[in-house]
Amino acid sequence: MIMKKLYFGDCLDILKDLHKEHPQGFIDLIYIDPPFNSKRDYNILFESLDFADATAQKQAFADTWSNVSYLDALNEIKDVDLDLWNFLHTLDTVGISKSAVAYLTTMAIRLHYMHKVLKETGSFY
Ligand SMILES: C[S@@+](CC[C@H](N)C(=O)[O-])C[C@H]1O[C@@H](n2cnc3c(N)ncnc32)[C@H](O)[C@@H]1O
Repeated sequence: MIMKKLYFGDCLDILKDLHKEHPQGFIDLIYIDPPFNSKRDYNILFESLDFADATAQKQAFADTWSNVSYLDALNEIKDVDLDLWNFLHTLDTVGISKSAVAYLTTMAIRLHYMHKVLKETGSFY
């Protein structure tokens, strides 16, 4: 099946909808270039052809996780994968930084649903 669709939005919402529509995995290949907890903010540069406003820029996305709330996602993971929840909950209690737990929890719930929508023979990069 070729999807020929481009989705815009939080991939978690889209993945959940896709999983509801196709409870068995149906995707052959997933490639992601996600945030990597680089602790940096990334900007888009606006360059006119004559470079007159090359310094103009706007924040594209923040790869900083210290102020990200993750408890809802952690609770959600408890309902769908208890082993994963145990792992993340243990990290949360052994004193690694809250920002690292926030990042891992945010990624974990999304990776859980990516796994769900992927075929058993599917590839993930
Ligand atoms: C490492 S950058 C990838 C940039 C991209 N490959 C490019 O060349 O522009 C990570 C991207 O993931 C996006 N992102 C972060 N959280 C997301 C989410 N929950 N759903 C969808 N995209 C997300 C960010 O906005 C950012 O553009």
